[in-house]
Amino acid sequence: MNNVFVSNHPLIKHKLTLLRSTKTEHKKFRELIRELAMLLGYEATANLDLDDVPVQTPLAITPGYRLHEEIGLVPILRAGLGMVEGFHEMIPGAQVWHLGLYRDEKTLRPVSYYNKLPVEPTVQVCLILDPMLATGGSAVAAIDVLKEWGVKRIKFVGLIAAPEGLEVVQAAHPDIPIHLAAIDEHLNEHGFIVPGLGDAGDRQFGTA
Ligand code: PRP
Repeated sequence: MNNVFVSNHPLIKHKLTLLRSTKTEHKKFRELIRELAMLLGYEATANLDLDDVPVQTPLAITPGYRLHEEIGLVPILRAGLGMVEGFHEMIPGAQVWHLGLYRDEKTLRPVSYYNKLPVEPTVQVCLILDPMLATGGSAVAAIDVLKEWGVKRIKFVGLIAAPEGLEVVQAAHPDIPIHLAAIDEHLNEHGFIVPGLGDAGDRQFGTA
């Protein structure tokens, strides 16, 4: 699939396996989400633009670099919240713009309930954070909102996607790169990713 990047990193595979396990309790689950976000963030930010900024070391002036663009982290509530910390550790200056979307249990369509984006975009790059891409409805809705906002570069960073949902997102937004830890087998009749890891929001926040 064009524009879909599934990590081959051994640490990501190792940690994703722990994340999937029913034996992993909430505290460990949250730690793993943060660590996986950091590792995936490293890969997803590999082609950010830089400015040349010479730096004075104790011995000499040498070429140096600074991120060229303002970065926005866009976690989709609730499950995307757990990924923010990992990204923030690496990009402490990133802005965070939350989007509240939940899936209607019957229709599986995303319902928007929180969006405080200002009128004009304040960032050039947005990284949408959501561990799960199931039917793809939430990802498409988030990308729609950010394109409408006028953001120049958008990437989706998730952990697990279903092939059905990936097709939907790629059909709607073929220009948006999608970074993942894994593509799973299928969606079940309730719209859950199989084998997946269950409900990422409930498992982080103890609300199952
Ligand atoms: C989950 C998940 C995604 C969405 C994916 O959130 O975190 O946001 O479903 O499904 P989709 O690809 O079919 O749109 P959920 O609606 O369970 O809300 P929550 O994070 O608040 O639990």
